[in-house]
Amino acid sequence: MKILITGALGQIGTALSHYLGSRYGVQNIILTDIKSHVEDRTLQDFTYYTADVRESRTVKTIIREQGINTIYHLAAILSATGENIPLKAWDINVNGLVNILEIARERGCSVFVPSSIGSFGPSTPLQKTPQVTIQRPVTMYGITKVTGELLCDYYYRKYGVDTRGVRFPGIISSEAPPGGGTTDYAVEIYYAALEKNSYECFLAPHTRLDMMYMPDALKAMVSLMEAPASHLKHRNA
Ligand SMILES: NC(=O)c1ccc[n+]([C@@H]2O[C@H](COP(=O)([O-])OP(=O)(O)OC[C@H]3O[C@@H](n4cnc5c(N)ncnc54)[C@H](O)[C@@H]3O)[C@@H](O)[C@H]2O)c1
Repeated sequence: MKILITGALGQIGTALSHYLGSRYGVQNIILTDIKSHVEDRTLQDFTYYTADVRESRTVKTIIREQGINTIYHLAAILSATGENIPLKAWDINVNGLVNILEIARERGCSVFVPSSIGSFGPSTPLQKTPQVTIQRPVTMYGITKVTGELLCDYYYRKYGVDTRGVRFPGIISSEAPPGGGTTDYAVEIYYAALEKNSYECFLAPHTRLDMMYMPDALKAMVSLMEAPASHLKHRNA
């Protein structure tokens, strides 16, 4: 197992780096992100490269030189930020993913690609939402997530690339702060409670959104990536 994480300095990437480091050994986990350097001291023991997922050549060189066979592709623009910069969100979330899938095809890597509850939309059934369901999101983030799911299916069916994913709800964690998603408030509320004693949420009263605790999300990702391929029914998410 030699693993590359894209978007490794984000909310999920930071926690996943620690989790994978303790499971497979820090020397087997390579971190990449668009950020110029690692500020988080807890990540100092990992090998780190600055790499934009839109620059295919850079990522390909790292994957070849490091002998990577598994990729956790977490680099993305999240929902709230994506609405301010929709075309950039498309570029990073879709063209960045295509680059990763192409490299995975060439190098025979397995790829984890997270989708999101953002891939649903107003017409998706709310109760017991089925796996195969209506996905007509109204945000650019959601559109990129549905596209990502379809691309993962496509690369699996056409080229046999070992794509795997889940649709995450909002993730609650305490290590790295969330990066601009709709459910960020569920984490910000704790910081605000300590720092200011108050928090004003943009949601209407009684709105309910799905949430998951980070350790459960990490376990889900790694269990999915370690599952035998023959046990998997779905490749989109
Ligand atoms: N956190 C959640 O609640 C949640 C829920 C559902 C799905 N997801 C998905 O999980 C993945 C990771 O989410 P996160 O919450 O850690 O996001 P985040 O915003 O905290 O982290 C994303 C990281 O990607 C990096 N990045 C941005 N553009 C890049 C580029 N062009 N090249 C390389 N790196 C780039 C950022 O610097 C950042 O460190 C995303 O695909 C996201 O859609 C997250």
